[in-house]
Amino acid sequence: MLRVVVLGAAAGGGVPQWNCGCEGCRAARNGGPELHRTQASVAFSGDGQNWFLINASPDLRQQLNATPQLHPREGVLRHTPVAGVILTNSEVDAVAGLLSMRESSPFTIYAHEKVLAILASNSIFNVLNEKHVRRQPIAIGEPFEPRLTDGARSGLEVLPFAVAGKSAWYLEGKAHPGGNSGDGDTLGLKITDKSTGRYFYFIAACAEVTDALKAEIDGAALVFFDGTVWQDDEMIKAGLGHKTGKSMGHVAMSGADGAIARLADLTLDRKLFLHINNSNPALLPGSPERKAAEQAGWQIPADGTEIVL
Ligand code: MLT
Ligand code: MN
Ligand code: ZN
Repeated sequence: MLRVVVLGAAAGGGVPQWNCGCEGCRAARNGGPELHRTQASVAFSGDGQNWFLINASPDLRQQLNATPQLHPREGVLRHTPVAGVILTNSEVDAVAGLLSMRESSPFTIYAHEKVLAILASNSIFNVLNEKHVRRQPIAIGEPFEPRLTDGARSGLEVLPFAVAGKSAWYLEGKAHPGGNSGDGDTLGLKITDKSTGRYFYFIAACAEVTDALKAEIDGAALVFFDGTVWQDDEMIKAGLGHKTGKSMGHVAMSGADGAIARLADLTLDRKLFLHINNSNPALLPGSPERKAAEQAGWQIPADGTEIVL
């Protein structure tokens, strides 16, 4: 059985974001905890005992504490059920949580060599002592089986594939430590339980819904998809900054080229948006945008949402 827990559903900054007074952030600050969201990450497990994270968000410590499945085993002095972290990009909201995993527990970081090059070039990540924390390169189109901390097989398969995207925001206009050409900045993942054949897709950043991507995910029981913005220019319109969704490598939810319209003709049993920015009105329960997303079959998950496949 494949278990998946949404650790966080928000984009960078979370909801509410520390310095933001937008409608979504104010609603979360003034309303109940159900309106709060931490930064995007999911955990998955094939056996319910050993878990893998997809991305390590800056909110990881809070997410681990909020998720009993990820607590240390009772009666053991030092333990974590987390056997590995698979990185799909090198944005701050995907890698900063690694710094909270620095207490000498063994685990493996799986990432494309471009992302590993960024970790290697930022010496602060050396707090993850390579004696305990392995860094394993993964490649587009090459499925791998993540291992448990004792080296045993997990029974899971992870297939990384290329998704339209861009390199990390903080490298904009700068030399990439992993080289400026080629793929690997933005990955989608297909996670399969080898014993049941059940699988899900994780695509938390996607600049364009191509026909190839549609063909890849058609027929899936579960898809997590980039839900950063409702409209490409919503942050500019709201006075929140100069970033468009496209400039950050994110397709909008709405519009003819948006995720809702482009994926509407696929057979997907369950589709959840992830990496939802606090500017996105679909976050607000009862908003017209939320209703439109739900009517199209999409879920805006709460943190902690668990799905069993
Ligand atoms: C992204 O997902 O595009 C980034 O988190 C944006 C940012 O860091 O500003
Ligand atoms: Mn992000
Ligand atoms: Zn905000």
